[in-house]
Amino acid sequence: MSIPPALSRSLQGSIAHVTGAGSGMGRATAEIFGTEGAHVAVTDFNGESAEAAAEAIRRAGGSAQAWALDVSDAGQVRAVTEAIAARFGGLDILVNNAGISAFSPIDSPDYDAAWARSLAVLLTAHQLTIRAALPWLRKSKAPRIVNIASTEALGATSRDSPYAAAKAGVTGLTRALAVELGREGITVNCICPGPILTGMTAGIPEADKATYAKRRTALGRYGDPAEVGHMTVSLCLPAASYITGVTIPVDGGLMARNA
Ligand code: NAI
Repeated sequence: MSIPPALSRSLQGSIAHVTGAGSGMGRATAEIFGTEGAHVAVTDFNGESAEAAAEAIRRAGGSAQAWALDVSDAGQVRAVTEAIAARFGGLDILVNNAGISAFSPIDSPDYDAAWARSLAVLLTAHQLTIRAALPWLRKSKAPRIVNIASTEALGATSRDSPYAAAKAGVTGLTRALAVELGREGITVNCICPGPILTGMTAGIPEADKATYAKRRTALGRYGDPAEVGHMTVSLCLPAASYITGVTIPVDGGLMARNA
């Protein structure tokens, strides 16, 4: 297999789809793609927030279009992926970012519902979007997939087993598809964010966030969504052509810390 001829650090003209891009890390990642000159397909369950994010990218001089998309709906995933490829003329990059939080104790009466929804949105959706994107990724000069998991895939928090199981599944899916698709030059990687200031963590009282971050992370603070977005975008550069199958914590040193 030949080495890609140009190890470019430019995303100018690349076509990137970011799911769950109406808020938090997805939005920050979409904005960085926009700044770097990519055409950005901004999708979210919440169509209004997707439109606001796409508008922000366009106002900053970038190229973006929004679509409402529930990533757990296979029909919507296929239709929106086709619409994105038709609008921009292909697809080079897929970032599976959309997510929900689903705390549920194992003996909760709601456990079955939390399990089903977590697996659908956090894990099954990744293979749906990847399968829908493959025909276009196979035509790309630098095809890239990044899956967003969590440090909950590497360690665990009590009462969060549906989320932890789904996120651990994302790391396995990443490795398996990296191996399966590697000969085609398609890279598949996974990022495990630690505690990040997003919509998902907005409801946690500030004092509790500060205490947790000081006790658990090496850097002693929550992360900014863009600090994850920059890692995601870096894995999508044409020059990131020999990185595949890896799971990278972007967690302020949470996983490194024992005490
Ligand atoms: P967020 O709540 O700010 O953004 C999540 C976005 O996903 C929202 O815009 C929401 O509308 C969208 N979404 C939810 N269900 C969807 C569906 N079925 N289809 C399409 N879009 C849907 O949260 P955040 O933190 O930016 O989450 C991004 C990813 O990062 C998620 O996968 C989350 O599990 C993960 N994560 C977050 C951490 C944190 O501390 N905030 C830590 C580790 C992982």
